[in-house]
Amino acid sequence: MKTRIAVLVSGGGTNLQALLDAEAAGKIPHGEIAMVISNVPGAYALTRAKQAGVPAAVIDRKACGSLAEFEEKLQAILELDGIDMIILAGFLCILSENFTKKWSNRILNIHPSLIPAFCGAGFYGLRVHAAALTRGVKLTGATVHLVNGVPDGGPILLQKAVEVLPGDTPEILQRRVMEQAEWVLLPQAAELWAEKLASAQ
Ligand code: GAR
Repeated sequence: MKTRIAVLVSGGGTNLQALLDAEAAGKIPHGEIAMVISNVPGAYALTRAKQAGVPAAVIDRKACGSLAEFEEKLQAILELDGIDMIILAGFLCILSENFTKKWSNRILNIHPSLIPAFCGAGFYGLRVHAAALTRGVKLTGATVHLVNGVPDGGPILLQKAVEVLPGDTPEILQRRVMEQAEWVLLPQAAELWAEKLASAQ
């Protein structure tokens, strides 16, 4: 049986697109992207899901009174759909320890730096690349890791380094890290972990 994957998103969804393209190309044979969930209504990632024919749902984080209420709704959808594994692909909402414990070893996250550099609460999206440029590092990259109660603190699965070049802006660096690292690593990690979970079933 294939591992049923839910991809959680908040924005543009280029990492979701990389996963959808990899699945369509037969590169995630042990997994199936069964649904996409956004915490932000109107996120372009939802359009990408629809275009690929994948069911998509919105749980508006701002409309939920608390993180606990958001996570209850999320848990209900995931259970109803028989989800085995969660991928956070540009999902910019920090999940509680209560939730991550329930899904221990079943949540993957992609982060746009070489953890432990430029990670943790407050480091997301362009802020990560701006921090790397301010510090003057010559190498950055992306990391796929398992998610636990510590933001960006779970065991590392895959990493790939990317060069920082003279004249880089946060936007230029973000694009290079996506093209050279994120869109390559995330589908690889999805298959790696889907196979592991499928063989444990
Ligand atoms: C990606 O660069 C992802 O690594 C990052 O947000 C971007 C989302 O882009 N995630 C984080 O910073 C998490 N801390 P996308 O919506 O086009 O995939």
